Amino acid sequence: MNSFFKLQPGAAARTEPAIVPWVEKYRPKNMNEISAQEDTVAVLKKTLESANLPHLLFYGPPGTGKTSTILALARELYGPEMMKSRILELNASDERGIDIVREKVKNFARTTVSDSSASNYPCPPYKIIILDEADSMTTDAQSALRRTMETYSKLTRFCLICNYVTRIIEPLASRCAKFRFKPLADESIEERLRHVAEVEGVNCPPETIKTLSDVSGGDLRKAIMFLQSAHSLYVSEPVTPDTITEIAGVVPEQIIDNLMQAWQSKKYQEVEKAVNAVVMAGYSAIQVLLQLHERVIVDAHLSGSDKSRLMRNMGKADKCLVDGADEHLQLLNLLAQA
Ligand SMILES: Nc1ncnc2c1ncn2[C@@H]1O[C@H](COP(=O)(O)OP(=O)(O)OP(=O)(O)O)[C@@H](O)[C@H]1O
Ligand SMILES: [Mg+2]
Repeated sequence: MNSFFKLQPGAAARTEPAIVPWVEKYRPKNMNEISAQEDTVAVLKKTLESANLPHLLFYGPPGTGKTSTILALARELYGPEMMKSRILELNASDERGIDIVREKVKNFARTTVSDSSASNYPCPPYKIIILDEADSMTTDAQSALRRTMETYSKLTRFCLICNYVTRIIEPLASRCAKFRFKPLADESIEERLRHVAEVEGVNCPPETIKTLSDVSGGDLRKAIMFLQSAHSLYVSEPVTPDTITEIAGVVPEQIIDNLMQAWQSKKYQEVEKAVNAVVMAGYSAIQVLLQLHERVIVDAHLSGSDKSRLMRNMGKADKCLVDGADEHLQLLNLLAQA
């Protein structure tokens, strides 16, 4: 773990005063640096022109630019200095019970906005409260927020950010302009990775960049993290696709083949042997499921009913694993079912 954060010799390392994870170092500083998400960025830029922001709700999978976008937007509205006094950021690690939120919001909203006449930025006369990871707030806390949002709407705008929009209560969601953040397309991820690799002086051949975007599943944060980990492991050597799959915990295709064959053999001993091999090698069962799923979808030899049965069972196993069930038993259970 330590090696991940160790500064490496190289141009960037020498000029970098602190140990900064690349995901932070390469966080977009303005709206133009946000990769992909063109629709969202276009609409937000329009609202910037009038500087009249509605309440916002950003939702979508991890590492797609939600937090970065609101921070970039705030920077363009207030400028890097003024932004500090105009933004209140509360995330899941802060205490966010009803009373605390009400109290914090009230105190923040009550202090009048400082004079901004000398600023070169639009500096609208309201503040922004960012509630990151809002889907982890209790329903009660969300309900209490409805009133707070209305009471202080003259002085503040809220930006709720979450992964699962269905976990935001409807009355709250309906008060906001909603923006969906999509998983990033391979080209966007690859372009950004090439940029990071170039600036950091990482020897990262095209096939490695391709592997990085494959294993990241549209999550740019993950892709950049893997690149930094791989680079810190093999500083002066080229980063190979194998290093990436190893860091990402990707299960080798051969093992997935064995599992599929064991399932098709309909013999318990075969299944047990294949599952034991996976468990002994320490692969995560969720990752195995994910790759089995991808394999089953494209398998031309399986009938539609076989596929749908397997998918149903995979769904159940996935839910059990997320709830904390035993990995070994879940894989056995899945593959021992004909
Ligand atoms: N669209 C994007 N454009 C440029 N960089 C991005 C983008 N999405 C993610 N990144 C990179 O990934 C890092 C994490 O992004 P960010 O914090 O915005 O993700 P998020 O959508 O808020 O994820 P989460 O749901 O996990 O909070 C950023 O610091 C940046 O380096
Ligand atoms: Mg975020």
